[in-house]
Amino acid sequence: MSYQPRRRRLPTWLPFAAGVALVLAFLTPVLAAPPENLNMFDAAGEQAASIRDLFYLVLAITGSIFVLVQGILLYSIFRFRDKGTPSEIEPPQVYGSKPIEIAWTVAPTLTVFVLFLVVMRYINDIRATEAKPDAMRVIVVGHQWWWEYQYPELGIITANELHIPAGRKVHLELQSVDVIHSFWVPRLAGKTDVVPNKINHMWIEADPKDMGAKPEVVYLGQCAEYCKGQHANMMIRVVAQPPDRFQEWVASQQKPAVDDPSVKAARDYFFSLNCQTCHVIKGTSAVGRFGPDLTHLMSRQTLLTGMVPNDRKELTAWVHRPDSLKPVCLMPDLHLTDAETKLVVDYLLTLK
Ligand code: CUA
Repeated sequence: MSYQPRRRRLPTWLPFAAGVALVLAFLTPVLAAPPENLNMFDAAGEQAASIRDLFYLVLAITGSIFVLVQGILLYSIFRFRDKGTPSEIEPPQVYGSKPIEIAWTVAPTLTVFVLFLVVMRYINDIRATEAKPDAMRVIVVGHQWWWEYQYPELGIITANELHIPAGRKVHLELQSVDVIHSFWVPRLAGKTDVVPNKINHMWIEADPKDMGAKPEVVYLGQCAEYCKGQHANMMIRVVAQPPDRFQEWVASQQKPAVDDPSVKAARDYFFSLNCQTCHVIKGTSAVGRFGPDLTHLMSRQTLLTGMVPNDRKELTAWVHRPDSLKPVCLMPDLHLTDAETKLVVDYLLTLK
């Protein structure tokens, strides 16, 4: 009696279950994402949506090719496998086939060409070398390790929290004062490098539908180009607001700094330090442009590009020992005592 290998069959539901698991694994982060996230599939703007659509299109094309090739491969493996019948006869040998060779040259060329055209079309839509009419202009300046936002038409300079009106195109001019950074807010747009001695352009727009009735929505981002030391903590916060709320923000930012007489001693102490050589406080002698503009520091929700909330506790820790919160940061440690730190923070807290 000859040996008969037992045929082992995979259960038919297995590929189906694997497919469902794959789709769920892919969708879970998309569906379960909190509103503040870095999920490019959870698009909240035209730019991000077109990038996501392009991704799906390329995935569909390359996925079909993958399924087709793997299908033919698997079919051939099973269909033409050695079935255990002894055979001395060699199968027919084929040396080349013109139609097949033409087919496998033309088909990939066409595929690549179609992908090229589609990608070029999207890139053309996404890139913004010129400001769109009616767009709001913002100059974004990358610093180690924070972001400066200038609104030239509005006379505003702020830091780390980019306020934009929802439903309006915002044209960004990206510049860097030191090394290469990259501006990336995945829910709004793709990433664009921020390069010294070069101005790059991009535009973003927050979809008002994503905001619904909320007074504002924060879109998170991240510096996406390694820029030394605190690169990982060089985060981005885009605060989208309905147009009227945005106008209120603009009006408050245009005002000079609050001069609160109740903190006169603290204020005098602050101006006896060297802070003013690196920071601007509008309407005072502080005119340094090296660090973030502090005129309306307390209108910002966070400190250090979003590392910590902007409150007395964190502000104290930051002023007291900058390195303890943000190692290798460029803000010097002034070796202030607790009492001196408190004076500085008392003054800063009035900069609403
Ligand atoms: Cu800036 Cu990485």
